[in-house]
Amino acid sequence: MKKNIQPSTCLAPVPVVMVTCGDEREANVLTIAWAGTVNSVPPMVSIAVRYGRYSYPIIKEKGEFTVNLVDAGLVEATDRCGVLSGRDGDKFSRAGLTKAPGVAVHAPYIAESPASLECKVVQEISLGSHALFLAEVVNVIADEKYVGANGALQIPDGVLVAYCNGKYVTTGGTVGTYAYTAKKKD
Ligand SMILES: Cc1cc2nc3c(=O)[nH]c(=O)nc-3n(C[C@H](O)[C@H](O)[C@H](O)COP(=O)(O)O)c2cc1C
Repeated sequence: MKKNIQPSTCLAPVPVVMVTCGDEREANVLTIAWAGTVNSVPPMVSIAVRYGRYSYPIIKEKGEFTVNLVDAGLVEATDRCGVLSGRDGDKFSRAGLTKAPGVAVHAPYIAESPASLECKVVQEISLGSHALFLAEVVNVIADEKYVGANGALQIPDGVLVAYCNGKYVTTGGTVGTYAYTAKKKD
């Protein structure tokens, strides 16, 4: 038996990331679970930001931000950055995060993050409660232990954290690999 329930954003799990914005003089960080991959060439991601967030006008004005991936060691800081506002003081120090100068954007990145995606906003779409920023990834700063021999990011299973129905979860074991069904013999 199936039931029709109230429409809501039921997608889960989703990535949870810390988005840094601003510049060296005035930077902020906020937690975002409404983040997505939206294009391959050029590489593009999206973030959905509520208009009332302190970070919203900063991202809008600068047209840049950095998406910092989260591992288990960063969960506490991630939660903190999602409940505190930059209006009330420097969140980097309150969350125990190290601000590192951006490379391709003015926004700093989080030194403790396994990988940080530096992004330039291409388009902003007003959706209702949230503004959707579509942005091109112009540089990726990765912990060298996660860079494979081919130069691509290779983060093992279980390292990155996802957000699932109000919980921070790690992803379990591999249950398939990209296009494995195409290689299967009938
Ligand atoms: C797990 C989690 C996910 C969140 N996802 C989003 C999101 O996708 N978009 C958003 O606008 N706020 C999101 N928030 C809330 C903001 O991170 C929070 O309001 C933060 O305090 C805003 O910081 P700011 O006022 O310094 O910009 C999330 C919070 C948590 C804890």
